[in-house]
Amino acid sequence: MSLLTRRRLLRRAALSATATGAVRTGLAGAAAAGTVASAAVAGCDDTPDPALEGDASSGALRFPPDFGWGAATSAYQIEGAAKEDGRGESVWDTFSRTPGQTRNGDTGDVAADHYHRYAEDLDLMRDLGLRSYRFSISWSRIQADGSGRPNQRGLDFYRRLVDGLHERGIAPMATLFHWDLPQALQDAGGWENRDTAERFGAYADIVFRALGDRVPAWLTINEPKTVVQNGYLSGHHAPGRQDPAAAYLVAHHLQLAHGLAVRALRAAGVEGRIGPALNLHPCYPADDTAEAAAATRLYDGYENRLYLDSVFTGAYPQDVLADLRADSRMVRGIRDGDLAVIASPVDLLAVQYYTPIYVTGQGTTVRKWPTSEAEWQQIYPEGMYDILTRVTRDYGPIPLTITENGLPCPDTLAPDGTVDDTARIDFLRDHFAAAHRAIRDGVPLESYHVWSLLDNFEWAEGYDQRWGLVYVDYPTQRRVLKRSAHWYRTVIRNNGL
Ligand code: FCB
Repeated sequence: MSLLTRRRLLRRAALSATATGAVRTGLAGAAAAGTVASAAVAGCDDTPDPALEGDASSGALRFPPDFGWGAATSAYQIEGAAKEDGRGESVWDTFSRTPGQTRNGDTGDVAADHYHRYAEDLDLMRDLGLRSYRFSISWSRIQADGSGRPNQRGLDFYRRLVDGLHERGIAPMATLFHWDLPQALQDAGGWENRDTAERFGAYADIVFRALGDRVPAWLTINEPKTVVQNGYLSGHHAPGRQDPAAAYLVAHHLQLAHGLAVRALRAAGVEGRIGPALNLHPCYPADDTAEAAAATRLYDGYENRLYLDSVFTGAYPQDVLADLRADSRMVRGIRDGDLAVIASPVDLLAVQYYTPIYVTGQGTTVRKWPTSEAEWQQIYPEGMYDILTRVTRDYGPIPLTITENGLPCPDTLAPDGTVDDTARIDFLRDHFAAAHRAIRDGVPLESYHVWSLLDNFEWAEGYDQRWGLVYVDYPTQRRVLKRSAHWYRTVIRNNGL
C-alpha cells in the first residue's frame, strides 16, 4: 500500500461515519489475524487466582488487592491559563487559534481552568477514591521555547499538583508529552527535525531532576501514532500537515525521543518507572479472504508493531519498512544506534484502548459495531481483552497499565443538578470486565485510568464532546459528578464489579 493510498484510507476512516459490511465475529476474526489469546496467555502463570474469582453467588468480579483505579487528563485539554507564569506557545495554541481547525473555533485558552482550580480537582479525585492519577506536563510551561533554562514557576505548579496527590493518597503518573510541542520547536522543523528528539531528552532530564523524587511512574510520549496520523497524514490535528513522507520520519523521531527520555531517567539516578503510552488497535480481517488477512497484517504493522517492536525488540517491523521503501525519508533517517536507544529497557507499557479496526482485502476499513459520538470509535469491549492478551503474549509479561479508555456522551445537566450518563456506565462496566478476564488469563495489568476525569478540550472537536466522569459547566467552571462518577466510586470501594 503506498503512503498516498494509506493517507487517503486514513482520512476516509476518520471521516466516514457509516458502518458497512458484515464481518466475522471479533474472536474468529482475531484468531484469523493471529491476535487472539487462548484461555491463558503463553508465558504467564495461568493458575486461576482465587482472589480474582470474586463471590460466585453474586457474580462479582474482584480485582487484585492493590489495583490502581484511576483517571486521566492532559495538560492542554484541562489547564487553561495559556499565558500565565511564563508559559510559552505550543502547536496546539497555534492550531486551535487558526480559523476552521477546531469545532466552533474552540481553543484551550481557558479549558477546564484546572491551572487555577487544581486543588478543587484534587479534592474531587479524593472524593472519588482514586488511587492513581495520570496527567501530563506542558513542555512550554517548563521551557517556553522548548530549550534553555527551566521556568521555575512552571515546575512549581507540577510540584504543587504532585504534592497534593500524595497528600490525598493518590499515586501520580506523569506523561512528559501529550502533543503540545513548544511552537518555537515547530518553527525549527518540529518532529521532522531530529534535534527535537534531543531537546525532548533535555526537557525530560529537567523534569526528572525537579519531580523525580515524587513521581513513581512516568510515561514518555502520548500516542506517537496519533501525532503521525492526525498531525501529519490527515492533518486534522496540530501541526495540520498532510505529508506522508514527513509522517514516518516524525514517527522515528518520536520513538527516538521516547528512548532518549528513558535514558535520561536512568542517568538522573531517579527511582521511578518509565514506559511508552501507546494507543493500540486490535486489527481484524473484515472477511475470510487471504487478501483481507494479508492487508490486516500490514495494517497492524502501521497501527501497532511499528511502535511496539521498536521498543520491545529493537527493530522496526520488516513489512512496514518494506512498504515505506528504502528510499523513504524515515528509512533514510534511521541512524546506527537509534534502535538501541529506542529499545532502552522500560519498566511498564501504558495501553490506551478505544476501538478495533476491521480491514478489507483492499486495505480499506469497515465498521462492524455501533460507534460512539466519536465516529472513529466502535464500541467493542472484547478488543480490550484481545489487545492486552496479545501484547503479553508477543512481548512478554511487562507490567501493563491502561492509561486511557472511555466514551463521549451527550451529557446535559438536568434541572435537578444531575447528569445521567448511563451509557458511559455500561461502556466502562463491559471494558472493566474484559480487563478482568485478561488479568485472570495471566496479563500483568496493574491499573486502569478512565479517560477522562473531567470534561475537557477534545482537540479538533473542541468542547462539544464530553468524555469526563465529572461534568464541567464551562460558563461557571462548576464541577458536577456524573452518574458514572458515583458508580465508579462504588467500583473502587468494592475493588471490582
Ligand atoms: C486519545 C487522546 C486523549 C483524548 C482521547 C479521547 O487519543 O490521547 O487526549 O483525546 O483520545
